[in-house]
Amino acid sequence: MSDPNAPEKKPFLYVVVCACGIAGDVGKLITAAQDRHWDVGVVATPQGLGLLDAEAIKAQTGYPIRSAWRTPGEARPLPLADAIAVAPATFNTINKWANGISDTLALGILCEAYGMGIPAAVLPYVNSAQAAHPAYGRSLDGLREMGVLIGSYEPHRPKAGGGADRFRWEEALDLLAPKLSAPA
Ligand SMILES: Cc1cc2nc3c(=O)[nH]c(=O)nc-3n(C[C@H](O)[C@H](O)[C@H](O)COP(=O)(O)O)c2cc1C
Repeated sequence: MSDPNAPEKKPFLYVVVCACGIAGDVGKLITAAQDRHWDVGVVATPQGLGLLDAEAIKAQTGYPIRSAWRTPGEARPLPLADAIAVAPATFNTINKWANGISDTLALGILCEAYGMGIPAAVLPYVNSAQAAHPAYGRSLDGLREMGVLIGSYEPHRPKAGGGADRFRWEEALDLLAPKLSAPA
């Protein structure tokens, strides 16, 4: 019989952060996810890690940022993921993920998530010159075929300062909500 006084086990969201200029604002997504009753752990690409305030994220989530592979025998630093949000997602990581390249911990987690049936949403943050490269469209199509949910951010003009003000961090949660039993 389940214990009615046991603390509620919340679903666990991995937020994968890539090296975009807006990466430092990821706290907005963490807060939005926690408000929707997720527990959150952050996985950063090696380049993305340098753009984050590691202490602030540890304080906010209760977990250290993961960025490098653990050594054999080392305890798993994060619980297993119930869902993954890649936000913000770079041109680089999107193309590598779609092509099964796994040369960062973040990509290793993303590439395995498909086979493990873990729902994933990606919020690309790219400029229109990057988006014009033929590989990019192919990568998004490939991710879509894998069941990955894709954010609606329209690429900004290159060398024009980006579009942080219209990047909807919480869109990742909106996309994932129907896939999960977690309250939205
Ligand atoms: C200040 C700065 C801002 C950047 N912003 C973006 C960006 O918004 N989108 C993008 O795709 N790449 C951006 N880049 C380029 C990526 O950081 C670069 O491609 C990097 O290799 C991506 O690594 P990752 O995909 O492993 O995070 C930026 C680079 C710098 C130095």
